[in-house]
Amino acid sequence: MSDVIAPREEFAAAALTRADDYARLYQESTQDPDAFWGRVAGRLDWNRAPTRIKDVSYDLADFHIRWYADGELNAAVNCVDRHLATRGDKVALIWEPDDPKQQARRITYRELHAEVCRLANALENLGVVKGDRVTLYLPMIPEAAYAMLACARIGAIHSVVFGGFSPDSIAGRIADCGSKLVITADEGLRGGKPIALKKNVDEALKKPGTQSVETVLVVRRTGATVDMQMPRDRWYDAVVEGQPATHQAQPMNAEDPLFILYTSGSTGKPKGVLHTTGGYLVYASYTHEQVFDLKDDDVYWCTADVGWVTGHSYLVYGPLANGATSLMFEGVPNYPDVSRFWEVIDKHQVTLFYTAPTAIRALMREGEAPVKKASRASLRVLGSVGEPINPEAWRWYYDVVGDGRCPVVDTWWQTETGGILITPLPGATDLKPGSATLPFFGIQPALVDANGQELEGAAEGNLVIKDSWPGQMRTVYGDDQRFIDTYFKTYPGRYFTGDGCRRDADGYYWITGRVDDVINVSGHRIGTAEVESALVAHPKVAEAAVVGFPHDIKGQGIYAYVTLNAGEQPDDDLRKELVAWVRKEIGPIASPDHLQWAPGLPKTRSGKIMRRILRKIAENQPDQLGDTSTLADPSVVQALLDERKVK
Ligand code: WTA
Repeated sequence: MSDVIAPREEFAAAALTRADDYARLYQESTQDPDAFWGRVAGRLDWNRAPTRIKDVSYDLADFHIRWYADGELNAAVNCVDRHLATRGDKVALIWEPDDPKQQARRITYRELHAEVCRLANALENLGVVKGDRVTLYLPMIPEAAYAMLACARIGAIHSVVFGGFSPDSIAGRIADCGSKLVITADEGLRGGKPIALKKNVDEALKKPGTQSVETVLVVRRTGATVDMQMPRDRWYDAVVEGQPATHQAQPMNAEDPLFILYTSGSTGKPKGVLHTTGGYLVYASYTHEQVFDLKDDDVYWCTADVGWVTGHSYLVYGPLANGATSLMFEGVPNYPDVSRFWEVIDKHQVTLFYTAPTAIRALMREGEAPVKKASRASLRVLGSVGEPINPEAWRWYYDVVGDGRCPVVDTWWQTETGGILITPLPGATDLKPGSATLPFFGIQPALVDANGQELEGAAEGNLVIKDSWPGQMRTVYGDDQRFIDTYFKTYPGRYFTGDGCRRDADGYYWITGRVDDVINVSGHRIGTAEVESALVAHPKVAEAAVVGFPHDIKGQGIYAYVTLNAGEQPDDDLRKELVAWVRKEIGPIASPDHLQWAPGLPKTRSGKIMRRILRKIAENQPDQLGDTSTLADPSVVQALLDERKVK
């Protein structure tokens, strides 16, 4: 039996939502979504309040997803301007630099307003108009938030590309959405090491398909010398200087796009997940408030990078729409040492802390002493996101980091969902270590078997969501059909998450991980197909197959099987060269942890690679290979097992 941790009475008494509220509101939200989400929409400021609330059909013959379709609002106004009257001097962003000896910054809502308006004016002067795409390739600096909000303010669609991606990956994302402008920095700084962001953009813009880019704005972060190609490249500080600190925001329809964010799927190129303005912002702000039990004096810290969806919904849009104080951390958990997280918590008196299981597991390995050096007395709620959290890491987070005092909210969601779908509410939900617990308001999860048959009661199957919620993605940018094919064809009439899941006898959900060809490495999604196509692009590689395997810290690691062209010699130098090649093609997060030479790959007679077998070999479970008799050449399996032993 797993243990159950009920909310402390003292916490529950002061919480925004308690157990009986949850039951009542959940019922209303699913029975009368129009009434429920109509009311919740009132938390935002609308230029024109929506009268149409939910307008959705998952029926393939009449497929559409619209929320608040006649409403008008501006996301930046909601995140900034509307707080000025009551919270102008409240700190909106705390910026903690990579180097703790450098000065942290505290940016008030009034200052944020001026920064966003100046940049919005500058972008308009550079010819950026409503509907244009703008690519952001930035480190974790306040300008990243200014840039997102300035785009939202003028109605431009931002596409943030994580600063760890390679020039090729940047180029692909620019080409896919046809960006007009790129905002980057001279360099990023992480763990004391510079990252050549501007240089990567320069290389990306030499690649085909990127000629849509007219202007590159460069933020000075480290002051490094970079190549400025006039008139294309402009210094950020020079273009915003002298711009008015006020700006008339563009009114947007609720269904106008807010941003594109590329994410990996099981096939092909990364998909441009498109989120729109009204539903996304309602959902991000409401979940942020409810899941973290947000109060006006909280100091909230989400450690995710702005390059991922968590950085969009729960570092920038959700917290700022709620008028909260949001901490942005430029650095890494182990620099200058492994106490950094806990020291930052004390330094800024953080009350709500949101991080990833991979960070928790890495820090757990360092023992309790680095945690105990800091008081952490300010903490109230701890959050987890990005991958399943194993019960052992959950307990350590709860017992050691939170001193057994702070509820842990294990939040399950996806880039596609815009916000959290399955999660405890800290004053309402009994916790079970390792379970994301229960659905958020309005969310109707179900488990289905391979035939799409819905499973009742305690069961394990594929996780689908039966009806829409306001934060749901609307399409794959430029490819509506791919959106429908990817998410609504497998189990018609339902949104397919790509995750496997178990439901226990109490109705609690336990996410078991991806059931498609996506690997979750340290909470980052990597498509096996992307790594494979990077490998086969190398002149010496004939074929490659990539699978995930369990990894103590990262959750999953990347295991690559490579067949070389005839005449090529497999050796350690080539192994290193191929790993470096993948880093260069995609980025460091996609580096294979293991690369095994494969004289042949296990294929069916029709030529399909049997990944199930490759997974078992990678997991070192040769006794669980199952039936190999359908293989075109069963002897390749033994050859792979022998090669694995040699390594
Ligand atoms: C996984 C990140 C278990 C899951 C917000 C999902 C989780 C993928 C959890 C989405 C969790 C995220 N427990 N698994 N609490 N949160 N995942 O798009 O496999 O980067 O499908 O969004 O991460 O990753 P994405």
